[in-house]
Amino acid sequence: MGENRGRTAVLDQFDRKIDYLRISLTDRCNLRCVYCMPEEGVEWQPHDAILSYEEIARLVRLFADLGIRRVRLTGGEPLVRRGVAELIAAIKAIPGIEAVYLTTNGLALQEQLPGLLAAGLDGVNISLDTLDRAQYAAITRRDALPQALAGLEAALAAPGLTVKLNCVPMGRNDNQLPALSELARDRDVSVRFIELMPIGLGKTLSRRTEAEVLAILEPALGPWRPCAAPPGAGPAHYGSFPGFRGTVGFISAMTHSFCENCNRARLTSTGFLKTCLQYETGVNLKALMDRGADDAALLDAMERAIRQKPAHHHFSTPSAAGDESHSMFQIGG
Ligand code: 5AD
Ligand code: SF4
Repeated sequence: MGENRGRTAVLDQFDRKIDYLRISLTDRCNLRCVYCMPEEGVEWQPHDAILSYEEIARLVRLFADLGIRRVRLTGGEPLVRRGVAELIAAIKAIPGIEAVYLTTNGLALQEQLPGLLAAGLDGVNISLDTLDRAQYAAITRRDALPQALAGLEAALAAPGLTVKLNCVPMGRNDNQLPALSELARDRDVSVRFIELMPIGLGKTLSRRTEAEVLAILEPALGPWRPCAAPPGAGPAHYGSFPGFRGTVGFISAMTHSFCENCNRARLTSTGFLKTCLQYETGVNLKALMDRGADDAALLDAMERAIRQKPAHHHFSTPSAAGDESHSMFQIGG
């Protein structure tokens, strides 16, 4: 590394410590969730527009110098890209990086998990909006619930792997929310309900708030009581129901803004360092690398972008110039 920055975390202009990086490996996916992708007509990024694993590893080494400690790989669906286990092993070997996680729809997990675990994967978040096969096919536009559940079971059976479930309540899956929560009754798993954010196709769909979800869950499961967050928790807040082993949490960007405590930055599959989900703000690191930038120049650009991270999203006010115009699969969620 060109410089020794003593590996202390960079603070942004609001003194937030940025130590968590989400990296999107691809914009492609084997599902077409209604809030994320259109059924047809997506224009995929060409391969040469996507960061290579070598480029990702180089950038993560620099990010680690700036204080990034934990990395999450996202998509699209990260496991549709070949060789993810090798990338995980390379990232885990970088000094300063303490944990690598994966956010996945789970379809390829049963097959790929052994390799991912051997590479040192620390945790998986699995997207699962329903346990009803027909409803799953309607929401994801693929009849793939059995594969997703096989992936979930494989993850739950892996010793030491942190497993979380992500569910986006949209109204149409109201009847599934108690059953999804029940997965945490006897298992050491966190089930999280994510308020649909007005990004991309998410602008066009109905949503449920945290309060509305609790109003569905509590009559079925008893009173939800807050509990301490599991280690490394991001924006979720956690609680549980009587007799539950695992936890049920909420990521409520719409009704409980958590921007003051935001600890994250995002790297898109095309190499753009994005510092807030809702804005285009950031810097194109791939363009810099393509022009031959050295490590010092990259570090400088990263540090400047992180310092300028916006204070908060404005999901509840009308859209404005500078707002993110891409969809979740292009950003990495
Ligand atoms: N709002 C909230 N969550 C979303 N996801 C995708 N699009 C949205 C949105 N607009 C979720 C997916 C997945 C995670 C990566 O992000 O369900 O669990
Ligand atoms: Fe694929 Fe995830 Fe988007 Fe669904 S939400 S289409 S699983 S990237």
